[in-house]
Amino acid sequence: MARSHSTSPYNLSYPVRGGCVEDWDSMERMWQSCIFQYMRCEPENHYFVLTEPPMNTPENREVTAEIMFETFSVPGLYIAVQAVLALAASWIACPVHQRTLTGVVIDSGDGLTHIIPVAEGYVIPSQIRQMPIAGREVTLMVNQLLKDRREPVPPAEALEVARRVKEDYGYVCQDVVKEFGKFDQDPAKYFKKLSGTRGSKSWSIDVGYERFLAPEVFFNPELCKPDFTQTLPELVDETISTCPIDVRRQLYNNIVLSGGSTMFKHFGRRLQRAVKDRVDVRQQGTVNAAAASTSQAVQSRAVDVKVVSHHMQRYAVWFGGSMLGVTPELYRVSHTKAQYDEEGPRIARHNAVFSSQHFG
Ligand SMILES: Nc1ncnc2c1ncn2[C@@H]1O[C@H](COP(=O)(O)OP(=O)(O)OP(=O)(O)O)[C@@H](O)[C@H]1O
Ligand SMILES: [Mg+2]
Repeated sequence: MARSHSTSPYNLSYPVRGGCVEDWDSMERMWQSCIFQYMRCEPENHYFVLTEPPMNTPENREVTAEIMFETFSVPGLYIAVQAVLALAASWIACPVHQRTLTGVVIDSGDGLTHIIPVAEGYVIPSQIRQMPIAGREVTLMVNQLLKDRREPVPPAEALEVARRVKEDYGYVCQDVVKEFGKFDQDPAKYFKKLSGTRGSKSWSIDVGYERFLAPEVFFNPELCKPDFTQTLPELVDETISTCPIDVRRQLYNNIVLSGGSTMFKHFGRRLQRAVKDRVDVRQQGTVNAAAASTSQAVQSRAVDVKVVSHHMQRYAVWFGGSMLGVTPELYRVSHTKAQYDEEGPRIARHNAVFSSQHFG
């Protein structure tokens, strides 16, 4: 979001839409504020790491390089793919010898959830999947459930209260029916209280089933979008099973979470179990069919499904970028001002893949 100086000081514009820059003037002003007002640094003294969404266009990279090298005179620039940085961020949860840039990133923010397969640091663009369900839908669901129960939430604060309920008390259950049973047996244990004041009036509400029912939209999307029926585990499984066969096992073994809406407690556990169930059923079907056609016992190696959660996943892309920013690897992969002056903006069309070996 950037404040436009051209009209009133309160005029807001959104330079980035759907992850891609649409208004370059506002974007340039925003970078200017970030560099001079917030970071308070001299851009000509520092290499810069910027990030891009998976489907960013080469033209966008060129304009980015033009602004960075010409307006800000940076000595070096690296444009990193967000999903690849999210994979790097997950290295804090694994031993050094297991660091890999092959995996599937589930990035769920406020507006959309993306499932992005990456092999050896390169995104496989044809197999990216998108789910039109993310944090906003969970907040709206909490809001609706509180409204249905006639909880006394001040109408002007309804969405803000729903967001607080979601972030502070939401979790993913492993079985909805059993969870309802637990709540009904011992409401005092599972129902929470949330209170606040508006003006001179104070309010207090009960927080109950919405704690687990709202995040359930990732696993039962028809709860909020009747025309969208594919669940998150289905989409993850579909993504991986349509990737090249030689990377599939590695992808199932490294499903990495990134973004605010993956923060629900037990989100990773439920996702892992659901994907594993799907893979096992399919594998058993294949084994049975092969056995029937050859009339002999057929064996197949089980697929390991692992979903990686870690304590930096809320800001995984930022964290991955900051890890890269402090390694010598940054200087190897960046484009320099000298290269830019020699060849022009087209150097930014491609960015080298960084390697895990030089990370501390
Ligand atoms: N602890 C939490 N539990 C559940 N949801 C959370 C938590 N913390 C933040 N969120 C939700 O995560 C969302 C914001 O996540 P994030 O910052 O990754 O999104 P974004 O990158 O700004 O949005 P988008 O990727 O859709 O453009 C919001 O819906 C917020 O309510
Ligand atoms: Mg995001």
